[in-house]
Amino acid sequence: MPVGPAEQEAALRQVDALLGSALRPEGLTELCRFLRRAFAHYTWVGVYRLEGSTLVLDGWDGEQATEHVRIPLDQGLCGKAAREDRTVMVGDVRSSPEYLSCFLDTRSEIVVPVRAGGRVVGEIDVDGQSTNAYDRTDDAFLTEVARRLGPLLARPA
Ligand code: SME
Repeated sequence: MPVGPAEQEAALRQVDALLGSALRPEGLTELCRFLRRAFAHYTWVGVYRLEGSTLVLDGWDGEQATEHVRIPLDQGLCGKAAREDRTVMVGDVRSSPEYLSCFLDTRSEIVVPVRAGGRVVGEIDVDGQSTNAYDRTDDAFLTEVARRLGPLLARPA
């Protein structure tokens, strides 16, 4: 029996939900919201996707929106993490010359690359309000989240 477009769409939505809601743009926002609610020291959580040589904010959760919705690879802690393909952790952003300021009350930041097929396709960016808020357990955890995000961010939007 043929399946109509509406049924197909509904079925695909179920498949997406089963595979991970991050397949949809709002799914990334939901992921950020989940992470922020789960961990009190994650004050602001965002996911950037690498588009050419620009990081584009695809989803976020926090009290305030950031003005940095597009970050060139040669700028900020975000640019550095993607460029150098490694986690960047800063215990006090006030002492980091590379830091691109978003929120007045941010003290710590951790940026973890998202990889797919051996290359950087995006990153998870987390801001915190206390100094030295993050350590290697956050790095390990966010690296696991990033591993799950890889195939999803690698898809064309
Ligand atoms: N602070 C970042 C910019 C992004 S905001 O924190 C959301 C940076 O230095 O690249």
